[in-house]
Amino acid sequence: MISIIVPTYKEVENLEPLSQMIAEAMVGLDYETIIMDDNSQDGSIEKAQALSAHYPIRLVNRTENRGLSPAVIDGFDEAKGEIVVVMDADLSHPASAIPKMVEQLQSRSSDFVLGSRYVEGGSIDDSWTLWRYINSVVATIPALPLTKVKDPMSGFFAVRKADIPEKQQLSPIGYKIALEVMVKGNFAKVSEVPIHFVDRVHGESKLTLSEQLKYLRHLRRLYQYKFKTKAEFIQFAMVGSSGFIVDLAVYLLLQMFGATHTVARAISFWPAVTWNWLLNRTITFNHREKTKKSTQWSAFASSSLLGFGVNFGTYYTLTEYVPFFAEHTILALIIGVLMGMGFNFSISNLFIFKK
Ligand code: GDD
Repeated sequence: MISIIVPTYKEVENLEPLSQMIAEAMVGLDYETIIMDDNSQDGSIEKAQALSAHYPIRLVNRTENRGLSPAVIDGFDEAKGEIVVVMDADLSHPASAIPKMVEQLQSRSSDFVLGSRYVEGGSIDDSWTLWRYINSVVATIPALPLTKVKDPMSGFFAVRKADIPEKQQLSPIGYKIALEVMVKGNFAKVSEVPIHFVDRVHGESKLTLSEQLKYLRHLRRLYQYKFKTKAEFIQFAMVGSSGFIVDLAVYLLLQMFGATHTVARAISFWPAVTWNWLLNRTITFNHREKTKKSTQWSAFASSSLLGFGVNFGTYYTLTEYVPFFAEHTILALIIGVLMGMGFNFSISNLFIFKK
């Protein structure tokens, strides 16, 4: 059996055409449609109940933990089929693609099938404004390294129920449940079936600005999950680069107020270190234990001083003892910076920001 999960919120006008579209696409296939509604007060509940007399529809009226992703995750528990499909109610996802998606799972040529607008043969409604298109592309780019697909924003997908990650593993934050399942499921074979995405005619999109901000948090968590230490290192390096700007600004400012360059250099290190420590505590290692601030700051400042020693020591050794670097001092400087940063990161990761 195929279980089609449809999260809905205020979709009364779409329920009937949706049921018809699914029925036409699923002729000859054993399926159920599970409407996961968040207690919409627009007549959706009555409509779904009425439709269940003519179509294989099951309505689940949710009154707690509202949201698109939580509704889909609860839908996984409700599904009776060995194959689960998730699609929107607003007729933007063509049900006609479902048999092909299911076939790929049944033949085991794929473990996760995505309805995709950005593969060959896929397309988007002409009614999309340039602004909406740019918005979609901008949101898509940071998600690309997380998966192998071209349309990680899509909300239309099919998967074998047995392969869905455990409920506790899924974080029901935001709108991107396909991305969440894809990353956490770590599927060996992921494929994309081209779809023509049609803009909704009835009702409104519920994708608010707050949902878009949640998407940024979601992305961060997925990066953390997928790349773990690599993601922390990248954030650490970004924080370090911003700290360099603080260092430079204070260094120049102090000289403008009459300090000598050596005094300015000795002082500017401290606000930069404090800046780095604060950002690493609140961003890079935000998920780590929040230990006492003063002790952690002292440890971080000491490690940064040592890190500077490693940085300078590397530079000095290379340029003094390796003839090649005597002529390529910039390269020696870069290697020194990387060594120093690697040292700082290792100490911070292992000892300062406790797991
Ligand atoms: N149960 C429940 N609870 N369903 C919800 C909620 C909610 O809080 N919010 C939205 N939904 C349902 C809608 O009723 C619709 O069936 C589906 O989730 C998608 O919501 P829309 O608000 O129509 O989203 P969209 O059209 O802006 O975004 C769609 O397109 C994106 C790609 O452009 C979604 O499919 C996204 O997943 C997709 O990434």
